Amino acid sequence: MQRRLKPNVFITRRIPDESIEMLSKHFNISIWDKKNQPVPRRILKEKMKNIDGLLCLLTDNIDKSLIDKTSNLKVISNMAVGFDNIDIESATNRKIMVTNTPEILTETTADLTFALLMSTARRLSESENYLRNGKWKTWSPMLLAGQDIHGANLGIIGLGRIGEALSKRAKGFNMNIYYYSRTRKKEKEKELGINYLDLNSVLKKSDFICILIPYNYDTHHFIGKEELTKMKPSAIIINTSRGEIIDEHALYSALKNNHIQAAGLDVFEKEPVSLNNPLLSLKNVTALPHIGSASKNTRINMSIVAAENLIQGLNGETPDFLVNKTIF
Ligand code: NAP
Ligand code: GLV
Repeated sequence: MQRRLKPNVFITRRIPDESIEMLSKHFNISIWDKKNQPVPRRILKEKMKNIDGLLCLLTDNIDKSLIDKTSNLKVISNMAVGFDNIDIESATNRKIMVTNTPEILTETTADLTFALLMSTARRLSESENYLRNGKWKTWSPMLLAGQDIHGANLGIIGLGRIGEALSKRAKGFNMNIYYYSRTRKKEKEKELGINYLDLNSVLKKSDFICILIPYNYDTHHFIGKEELTKMKPSAIIINTSRGEIIDEHALYSALKNNHIQAAGLDVFEKEPVSLNNPLLSLKNVTALPHIGSASKNTRINMSIVAAENLIQGLNGETPDFLVNKTIF
């Protein structure tokens, strides 16, 4: 009897061992494993020609020109919930399944979003730098005074999985919670004790505005000069979704000119963010290197779900987390 050849899978970075072990049982795998750097495009292009499955990260730009290089590719498994790094239309046209890793990272990302909100409100990074730089000479009444979180108005833009998880944390801090989302969710309003408002009203009313919508053609610079102008001068904006959702030039100008109070950013228009990015010159910006889902457990679980999606897809099943359901 002829032995069936194992499908070829390329993994674009060293991922946790648990998922590599799973994948090795089913596939011939090769891994780009050089100094934790993204795979060079030239190599990815070459790999795309002969693989059946790809496990990639949000740092890999899987665009049409790459997808057009493939002849056998059946599954692109992204180890992230966001899939804006993949040209879904091109993949769908070629009947390639695209999968992602939602749900398991929801709570961890909501934790980080709330942590960033608190850190920005209470000026934690600035305060620690102040101490480490030897500036702390005495206790003083208004030194590094920030904003109260309890009792403040929180505006959530995008009431999806993470938005909902964030609202539960905010409830524990007695915040008044408002949301704007593409679809109004009346059941959730009752269940979570939150209120729907139109976008303008959320922008005007909120002390804290958290952005939790996906990035796509419709959400490019969703928050720009016009939206920032509507916010309170004391408003704090938190972005843990994708950098391109906020127009960074407009944000810099609003922060520099005190049109809004502060920003907490886990994501940037260009990542990794350049040290010359003017936003990093501002004390009222708390900046993180895209660590929303970065707890050890969650990152291991994300890699396992990404592996499961790939195994299911290449074994002829419908993956649990298929993004482009229209291919069937
Ligand atoms: P989700 O469950 O799909 O929630 C997104 C929500 O945004 C949905 O409720 C959706 O509305 C709403 N929405 C979509 N487009 C909109 C628009 N144009 N205007 C208003 N609302 C809109 O996604 P999630 O799991 O919460 O994740 C959200 C995003 O967070 C991801 O796409 C990813 O980019 C980002 N993320 C970042 C990190 C990090 O490390 N910083 C970690 C995880 C996720 P509907 O209900 O109508 O669909
Ligand atoms: C992280 O940003 C993700 O989309 O999972």
